[in-house]
Amino acid sequence: MSVLLEARDLHKSFRRTDGVVEVLRGVDFRLEPGRTAAVTGRSGSGKSTLLNILGGLDKPTTGDVLVDGVPLPVGDKNARARWRSEGVGFVFQFHFLLPDFTALENLLVPVRSRGEVTAADRERAGAFLDHMGLAGRASHLPGELSGGEQQRVAVARAFMNRPALVLADEPFGNLDAANGARLGDLLMALHRQEGVGLVLVTHDERLAERADRRWHLEDGRLQDAGGGAA
Ligand SMILES: Nc1ncnc2c1ncn2[C@@H]1O[C@H](COP(=O)(O)OP(=O)(O)OP(=O)(O)O)[C@@H](O)[C@H]1O
Ligand SMILES: [Mg+2]
Repeated sequence: MSVLLEARDLHKSFRRTDGVVEVLRGVDFRLEPGRTAAVTGRSGSGKSTLLNILGGLDKPTTGDVLVDGVPLPVGDKNARARWRSEGVGFVFQFHFLLPDFTALENLLVPVRSRGEVTAADRERAGAFLDHMGLAGRASHLPGELSGGEQQRVAVARAFMNRPALVLADEPFGNLDAANGARLGDLLMALHRQEGVGLVLVTHDERLAERADRRWHLEDGRLQDAGGGAA
């Protein structure tokens, strides 16, 4: 099977006032197209650092990231930005919706950043809102939505540009258990519908179990935590 995303021997160090911390110490990772991987690990173990490198937001100190088998020139900011905008959708713990834009307009932001918004894009955004149970909320501002609803918009936004990969970093961390579980269902359904690769950082064991592969980040390395239910 082809490999959508591969990381080889990633190392990442941060220079801090108290010295250099080596957060990633030889991470190897691979994800096939359309598959899901869950990453768990204690706070500070480097999960966000890893996701940021996989998504081109940050570069490793050493090591390689390969997209479709082709090395991403990780030192090249523009190449990373291209990978980010064309290949990756992000969901963070905080939604980062634009407060003055309606739910629908927020979904169109990533589309707009790549060019003209077409009628088909608007239709797709509307269908996503329907899918997320937000049919009547298209013209609402984020401030008029609940936390769970805001996060549903943020999840849908990550898929708008038809990325090859969605990276979700504790997307339900701010939600109560019931809302988190519901959003987990919606995220997995959207991932399946769109056939997109998904890497999910989560503390939620039940959600992690639904991924095709499970990884645990510890001592700067990814340990294979087995296959999930899928
Ligand atoms: N830009 C930075 N400069 C210095 N240190 C950093 C930087 N970013 C992260 N770190 C350090 O790297 C380590 C890993 O951070 P990271 O945010 O990746 O952890 P995490 O596993 O996502 O934790 P959490 O579960 O709390 O989100 C931490 O010790 C953090 O302080
Ligand atoms: Mg984190």
